[in-house]
Amino acid sequence: MFIILIGILFASLHSISGGHIETVSASGCESCSIYLTCKHFTSIIAIIEASFVPGTNASLEVSTPFPIQYPRQCLNHRCSGNNHCSFILNEDCPGAKNYWGEGTLYVKYSCITEDRVVKYCNREIVLPDPNNVGISEGFIRNPGYPRFYGGQSPCRWKIRVPSEQRIQLTIFDISVIVDNPPTEGDCTKDRLEIIDSEILVYSTCHQKEPPKEYLSLSDSLEIVLYSSQRLTPLRGILLHYTAVGCPTPVPPADSYLVYINDTFAAFSCCVGYVFPDTGTKTRQLTCEGSTWSEIMPLPNCEQLEYPSASEPLPKLREIMASELIVPAVIIVTLFILNSMVLFFINRAKKRNEIEHKNEEIGALNSEELSAVVT
Ligand SMILES: *[C@@H]1O[C@H](CO)[C@@H](O)[C@H](O)[C@H]1NC(C)=O
Repeated sequence: MFIILIGILFASLHSISGGHIETVSASGCESCSIYLTCKHFTSIIAIIEASFVPGTNASLEVSTPFPIQYPRQCLNHRCSGNNHCSFILNEDCPGAKNYWGEGTLYVKYSCITEDRVVKYCNREIVLPDPNNVGISEGFIRNPGYPRFYGGQSPCRWKIRVPSEQRIQLTIFDISVIVDNPPTEGDCTKDRLEIIDSEILVYSTCHQKEPPKEYLSLSDSLEIVLYSSQRLTPLRGILLHYTAVGCPTPVPPADSYLVYINDTFAAFSCCVGYVFPDTGTKTRQLTCEGSTWSEIMPLPNCEQLEYPSASEPLPKLREIMASELIVPAVIIVTLFILNSMVLFFINRAKKRNEIEHKNEEIGALNSEELSAVVT
């Protein structure tokens, strides 16, 4: 039991040290209290989505003297940047009772641990995070969020990703002084600017619904928050950033990159080599978000082991023994036997000749003898 408790404690501590962004869902009726809470006391809430589904017997009164307040904006006002909150649509959203009527509010929010939020000005954010392997997303908020923003000098953040990747930015909350007419691009004092490769691409002082998203054209973005006053009792900004696209993978040893585009990469091992885990010559990867479908780096290609290359040698020896040596021995034996036979035949012949000569000599002698006699 004690060990299990220690295990749980260790596991939760581990997840804290790595930091995380957890998405939570909640829902409730238009006049009900919805509680938004984060488990870790240092985590803060970011409202990702808030949708209102009207009830069956709801009669919408669309006429309202105020500009429409979307539930997400009201939730931002009450909950964003806090650790927990309670929310009643009809009470916390001015004009909601008339505009939205009866129904159910569905909320999706993120709980972000402290180490996943950049909360100081003039920071450079390098992705993937060099301190947290594999992490390529996070949040940015101004100092003071959600109680105040200020400082008079612009507050800057730079985000940089590997050259093959892009940055996706989402403005989940912006609450700054709105000067002049409430139209896009007309904010001249307090505003949020997005600069992509030295070019000003977006400027706003308004909350958009759904939240404004921006996908960078280059591998770096600059975000600037201008504030005209030393301290303004408004929330400021809360942004989400994430790297999209996958960095070009490094080919493993004894392999080469066959093909690559934004979503797909293929490798092939050199001739005579295979991937040791799959035993195949080629490997295909797909890019999911900002990571490849396989754990990087890939295993190195290894020399192919021919199942017929290590065994044939003894076989060859067997062949030599059974099919070459034996007949050779037989041939040699036959040869020896043959020569022995020839030798004996020769000897027998020679003996015969000698005997024959002796007989001739004998015959001659008898003839001579008879001649001598006669
Ligand atoms: C990338 O290549 C794959 C395989 O050839 C193809 O299916 C996919 O459509 C390509 N994607 C893009 C964005 O070109």
